[in-house]
Amino acid sequence: MAFELRELAVPEDKKIYEMAREIGPGENGFVNSLYTAGYSKFLNLLPVLRDYSSGIDLPPGHVPQTLYFLYADGRPVGYGKLRHRLTDSLLVTGGHIGYCIRPTARRRGYGTALLSGLLGKASELGIDRVLLTCEEGNEGSRRVIENNGGRLAELDNRYCRYWIGLSNVQAAAGRD
Ligand SMILES: CC(C)(COP(=O)(O)OP(=O)(O)OC[C@H]1O[C@@H](n2cnc3c(N)ncnc32)[C@H](O)[C@@H]1OP(=O)(O)O)[C@@H](O)C(=O)NCCC(=O)NCCS
Repeated sequence: MAFELRELAVPEDKKIYEMAREIGPGENGFVNSLYTAGYSKFLNLLPVLRDYSSGIDLPPGHVPQTLYFLYADGRPVGYGKLRHRLTDSLLVTGGHIGYCIRPTARRRGYGTALLSGLLGKASELGIDRVLLTCEEGNEGSRRVIENNGGRLAELDNRYCRYWIGLSNVQAAAGRD
């Protein structure tokens, strides 16, 4: 299986639009930022999301955020959002990273692979400790985090807060 993690581009592959439609508005606290009423609205959204990654015209209280798509053998199977830093609100829920795998591709290891790739991107941004939050009952997401070395730090109001240290990711990236 060949995996590729690719940053959102303008213009974008129409397969990404189809994936976003399949995902729908989002679930378990994950908001599908690419969910639009139609293709023309999707096309208009792309430069806006691209600007957010550079910190341009961010909504109030938001921090720069970059979207990455996971492709498996040429098919987009999911995507993640990497927030470049935390806010007081993201410290409570949201954390640095949110992710989703399209319903027709779940339970094949893609969620675990996607988070692994996103941790690499977080490390490239200089983040040394990543916060992930998820609902207590979201077994799939908890397994994805734990598969990537996440340690449960707190369980509070049915919300789990996990931290993953990235020194190993940085060390691995530095190896030949
Ligand atoms: C959570 C999610 C990303 C998991 O993606 P995935 O591709 O199915 O994950 P994986 O295939 O890598 O599975 C990882 C582990 O979780 C387990 N798992 C996955 N979904 C599960 C579920 N619904 N119930 C119980 N276990 C589940 C898998 O069996 C696997 O276990 P293992 O590591 O012991 O083999 C996906 O279900 C999803 O997109 N959900 C909706 C959005 C969401 O919840 N995002 C996270 C918000 S915090």
